[in-house]
Amino acid sequence: MKVLIVGGGGREHAFAWQFAREDPSIELLVAPGNPGIATLARCVPITATDIAGLVHLARTERPELTVVGPEAALALGIGDAFREHGLPLFGPSAAAARIESSKTFAKHLMRRAGVPTARAERHTRVDDAKRAARTFGAPVVIKASGLAAGKGVAIAQTIEEADRAIDAMLRDHAFGVAGDEVLIEEFMDGEELSVFVLTDGTRIVPMQAAQDHKRLLAGDTGPNTGGMGAYAPVSVATPELVHDVVARIVRPTLRALRDAGTPFTGLLYAGLMLTRDGPRVVEFNGRFGDPETETLLPLLQDALLPRLLTIARGESLDDSPLGWNRQFAVTTVLAAAGYPESPRLGDVITLPASPPHVHVFHAGTARGDHGQLVTAGGRVFAITAIGHTFADAQRASTQTAHDIEFAGKQFRADVGWRELERHAGAT
Ligand code: AMP
Ligand code: GLY
Repeated sequence: MKVLIVGGGGREHAFAWQFAREDPSIELLVAPGNPGIATLARCVPITATDIAGLVHLARTERPELTVVGPEAALALGIGDAFREHGLPLFGPSAAAARIESSKTFAKHLMRRAGVPTARAERHTRVDDAKRAARTFGAPVVIKASGLAAGKGVAIAQTIEEADRAIDAMLRDHAFGVAGDEVLIEEFMDGEELSVFVLTDGTRIVPMQAAQDHKRLLAGDTGPNTGGMGAYAPVSVATPELVHDVVARIVRPTLRALRDAGTPFTGLLYAGLMLTRDGPRVVEFNGRFGDPETETLLPLLQDALLPRLLTIARGESLDDSPLGWNRQFAVTTVLAAAGYPESPRLGDVITLPASPPHVHVFHAGTARGDHGQLVTAGGRVFAITAIGHTFADAQRASTQTAHDIEFAGKQFRADVGWRELERHAGAT
């Protein structure tokens, strides 16, 4: 079997690792990949947004399956382009991917479908946006509507902060065109949860829930990032809660997408806030999360490839549940100096060998001029440790983050702090 993976981060390294583990004879092709992925796959230097280049590659190589990581490729229509050429691809069409690429589209859809989410208003003019922020009252959330790699969101504690964020997006174009339209949104208080479901548009298979850590610094402080760490299982995500999320959030959303003539196939990621009034949607994504994928795949006991293949071929999904092993996974992200504002590239990395229960997935790494491993992106590694207890996994993940060296590295030593407190409280 030949599989093409599109992307070159920690999530795509985890895909490659998982597929090779499921089928040791698999032929893996990754565009563009990274030095970690290159130990498992043939890497081809085509970027994830070069849709014409990827179509050409796939028409030449004829993979039985293409799996897409990054949202940008989906928003640019890689799903449509591959399907036009009869190439099976796991991922939604550009029209369905708007559930992620346009927060305004997602809000309208949720309103129509009656899906619980924060109240929001869309604005393109500074004055109107500032007036809306005053009506909502602080704390208030200011969001760029377009794709901004998880960074186009400001949680303003005061009206002055809200004004600054609005000026940065609408007046100073800090997020380019992604911020030319903003949402002023009600602040939701609670704990976050990521729920992923595989879907053929109608049938669904939920994955185990995970909890991401979006803030840069310990105790969930500092700026928003693409994700600084994740863990699973999450004890508050009981089977009843996941069932409720599927019934009240996932199914109505998929139905609304079908009704709009843009059925969604692939992986639907519901980013939730567990509020006092129950789970409410923070955002949807149309692809696997990063770093949650690096957390979840090492816990997976059943094969993923057959389900991805079925969905990519447009066949009907086997919706029997996936099996998970009963251990704990904690992922710590090692980020470059200057992340998230302006990550510094080119710092030389020292990467010691890690124990078998620790998986070091490469995210932003590259080979320097002399073949040495160097930093090449904001998030450099995603380190997943598996343990028989949550505390064991947490300790091993943090220890490996200490052991890998490069100048200016940043990481959170408190990934899963809520869960650690719950486990401590339970004993
Ligand atoms: P998003 O890109 O919409 O997922 O937002 C990024 C992060 O900002 C989320 O994961 C939350 O941590 C936070 N956030 C976004 N919207 C809200 C909201 N309405 N209330 C509270 N936190 C939010
Ligand atoms: N972990 C957040 C994301 O993938 O968007």
